[in-house]
Amino acid sequence: MKRALLLAPLALAACNGQQPAGNASASQGGPPPMPVYQMRAEMPAGDRLAAGRDGAALFSNRCGACHLAGGMGTNLLTKQQVAAGNPPEMGLLANRKDLNADYVKSVVRGGKMAMPRLSRVEVTDAELDAIAAWLTRAR
Ligand code: HEC
Repeated sequence: MKRALLLAPLALAACNGQQPAGNASASQGGPPPMPVYQMRAEMPAGDRLAAGRDGAALFSNRCGACHLAGGMGTNLLTKQQVAAGNPPEMGLLANRKDLNADYVKSVVRGGKMAMPRLSRVEVTDAELDAIAAWLTRAR
């Protein structure tokens, strides 16, 4: 009984409509923070067939569900990278320096093992050019 009384103010605090900051929300009974792969960028506005699309935003929006932190593509690739002796950060496509644009495009159009191929409706050729250019920007 005493315990219940002590916890009552905490429960009230969680219900008063204020958003607790960051990770505190989980310990106070609120929803846990959204996983990174569910916090994708908006689809960039404009003509999807025109050149010069925003590669970073497109990568986040079109590929991010699997290739941002915590995504299933990241998890699988992290396992492969670690098995190959590379640091786990290399599981994120955005950190890779060994990808080239032709390889990225062929994986996206043809699929690779657990990755489904993506059609020109899901990702147009102009969008894929922008994504491949962004992923290989550090080369
Ligand atoms: C439905 C989830 C999913 C989506 C969406 C997705 N991928 Fe993948 N991707 C995967 C998985 C899973 C793998 C690992 C495949 C395997 O080895 O089994 C992968 C692998 C890759 C690889 C190969 C990396 C390597 O080391 O060989 C590239 C390149 C790639 N994805 C690019 C992309 C791009 C670019 C997009 C967006 C246009 C994208 N993927 C969208 C799941 C996804």
